[in-house]
Amino acid sequence: MKLKLRPLVAAAMVVVGFAAAPSWALQPNNEPISPIEPAKVTNPAMVELGKKLWFDPRLSKSGFISCNSCHNLSMGGSDNLKTSIGHNWAEGPINSPTVLNSSMNVAQFWDGRAGSLKEQAGGPIANPMEMAFTHELAVDMLNSIPGYQAEFKQVFKKDKIDIDQVTNAIAAFEETLVTPNSRFDKWLKGDQTALTKDELEGYVLFRDSGCVACHNGVAVGGNSFQRMGLVEPYKTDNPAEGRVAVTGADADRFNFKVPTLRNVELTYPYFHDGAAGTLSEAVDTMGRIQLGKKFTPEENAKIVAFLKTLTGDQPQLTMPILPPSSDKTPRPEPFAKK
Ligand code: HEC
Ligand code: HEC
Repeated sequence: MKLKLRPLVAAAMVVVGFAAAPSWALQPNNEPISPIEPAKVTNPAMVELGKKLWFDPRLSKSGFISCNSCHNLSMGGSDNLKTSIGHNWAEGPINSPTVLNSSMNVAQFWDGRAGSLKEQAGGPIANPMEMAFTHELAVDMLNSIPGYQAEFKQVFKKDKIDIDQVTNAIAAFEETLVTPNSRFDKWLKGDQTALTKDELEGYVLFRDSGCVACHNGVAVGGNSFQRMGLVEPYKTDNPAEGRVAVTGADADRFNFKVPTLRNVELTYPYFHDGAAGTLSEAVDTMGRIQLGKKFTPEENAKIVAFLKTLTGDQPQLTMPILPPSSDKTPRPEPFAKK
């Protein structure tokens, strides 16, 4: 991993020469970050159905927890908690990542154990620490609701609802959750007035210090697994060990998926353990343990100012009206102890 990273960091540092011109005069030129394009919706009916499922708490045993409980689309697609709260107020093991732009991830989850959004979407429904249901019960519930029966049939042309249709529809909805038009993207596309001098200087610091070795591409992250604590070990009480849980390879111990920094202003607290409460703290930690760098308070403030320019247009949603349960729909068990 180190071998792969070093040339990238070196490459990022060579760019310093190019940045010697005053940063306010800086024009985008082959930047390591590219703008987000709006989502292309090919199947609006499936997306609409996925949106309903996203907001439907009846997919949980308690009848109270929906995907949106922990990935609140009014709060950057996260829950803004250190770690999430699941069924029976279970203390979740890890910080909930944003779902915004998650279609751009190389894989899903901090350790990448799900290859796609569709594969991921079945997980939380059956996870005892999250929605604590089973796929069978979820599908029975949906099949008992005439409004869903009709809508699934219209979208999937099948007589019975199955879990495959459920995860397909949720994934189709998630693919629309992209955030174009951030001020940084406007600058990338040539709008010289989009950023202030401090924000642009913050970007140059971010780029030329080597942050872009890991946080790059369209999502400014999400596209590789990297060591947390590359030059200095990261201290945490959280037992998660990252990618090794998937590959079993010792070299992957403490490698985590690099999070996207898109909308990072909205997705506090930070890191897989949620230990960094503020962006300033996260930037300080990253500088120190990933790059061996101590930023001055002014440098830190400029990098934070840059990171806030990565907030894009949030998905504009009309709240879906969910079809009511029928007399045959099993009633939820909010206080079931198992
Ligand atoms: C109880 C809280 C909770 C609920 C409910 C929940 N999630 Fe999550 N979600 C999390 C946590 C925590 C993680 C990170 C888990 C990990 O990486 O091990 C996560 C990870 C994800 C990811 C991966 C994002 C990334 O960048 O890796 C996606 C996508 C996602 N959830 C979608 C969903 C969908 C769809 C639903 C509803 C079916 C849902 N979640 C329900 C807490 C929740
Ligand atoms: C060696 C790769 C690497 C480098 C270099 C790097 N990061 Fe990170 N960054 C990561 C990884 C991996 C995580 C997630 C770690 C975790 O939570 O275990 C992360 C997390 C973050 C987060 C928290 C995001 C969130 O949603 O939790 C911020 C903010 C961040 N980095 C900013 C920076 C800045 C600023 C720099 C440069 C000073 C930088 N990073 C350099 C790999 C890197």
